[in-house]
Amino acid sequence: MNEWLHSFMLEKKQWVDEVLPSHIAKLQAPDTLKEAMIYSLNAGGKRIRPALLLATIESFGQDVRRGIDLACAIEMIHTYSLIHDDLPSMDNDDLRRGKPTNHKVYGVANAILAGDALLTYSFELVAKMDVDSLSAEQKLKLIEGLAKAAGPEGMVGGQVADIEGENKRLSVEELEYIHHHKTGDLLAFSVVAGAILSGAEKEEIRSLHSFAKELGLLFQIKDDILDVEGDAEVIGKPIGSDTENNKSTYPSILTLEGAKEKLLVHTKRAKEYLFSVKMNHTLLEGLTDYVINRDH
Ligand code: IPE
Ligand code: IPE
Ligand code: MG
Ligand code: MG
Ligand code: MG
Repeated sequence: MNEWLHSFMLEKKQWVDEVLPSHIAKLQAPDTLKEAMIYSLNAGGKRIRPALLLATIESFGQDVRRGIDLACAIEMIHTYSLIHDDLPSMDNDDLRRGKPTNHKVYGVANAILAGDALLTYSFELVAKMDVDSLSAEQKLKLIEGLAKAAGPEGMVGGQVADIEGENKRLSVEELEYIHHHKTGDLLAFSVVAGAILSGAEKEEIRSLHSFAKELGLLFQIKDDILDVEGDAEVIGKPIGSDTENNKSTYPSILTLEGAKEKLLVHTKRAKEYLFSVKMNHTLLEGLTDYVINRDH
């Protein structure tokens, strides 16, 4: 990874790491709930969604401070999805971000509620965010986009399809549907949100959305590959979870080699869409390469 991208990611991760828990700490809510929310938020994710949002703003030459609250809101929704994804009735995983999963520490009921609280609070945060010269109409567009990416036509729909696909051999098309929605939509929204916050044109937003959908797919294909050949110590979650749960994954359907070939095909497509947008491409191209080369 080049030096510039590395320091961009590190700096933005530190910023998000600092701001995220401060939004929870100030809430007037039961201490156990706040503790459970902060526990998972603080468990040290890569903050790739905030990085994408902030990188998009920077690439349009705008002030990244416009995006910090929305970046935190997206990371809260992502974290809620992980807490629920790890529950015994879902993937039943004990380790997340290198630490015991939320339900292992706070119990299943509190883990469900901590997830619920992160989801709902994220929308309160977006509704309240104060961004210079952002119209009420643009803010509504952001709220609608976030809800769509996280909801029945987005992440939740993808998670249901993922569960229904257990113990079945899915086609690549069916698997693509799952990947696009359970993971791709929220990632794609991160980029689109950065474009909306930057006042980008409709056409640019459309091309960036196509770019980000490819990127989201790439992200989950790589997640599947890491579940096979990753190092549990490095990725901070158990490997082999997909096989144990009889999930169809890119490696299981196409073999590891085939999955890696898919990475190349979709990377090429992603970059074509990216280069069609009038903006500085360096950060988002670098983040695309990071997504496919990451070891965690
Ligand atoms: C993991 O997401 C779950 C998927 C959607 C594949 P990340 O790999 O972004 O997890 P963290 O946030 O870095 O822990
Ligand atoms: C989870 O996909 C995606 C969401 C949480 C929405 P996975 O089940 O593959 O994620 P990991 O591997 O547990 O992080
Ligand atoms: Mg899962
Ligand atoms: Mg899982
Ligand atoms: Mg996985």
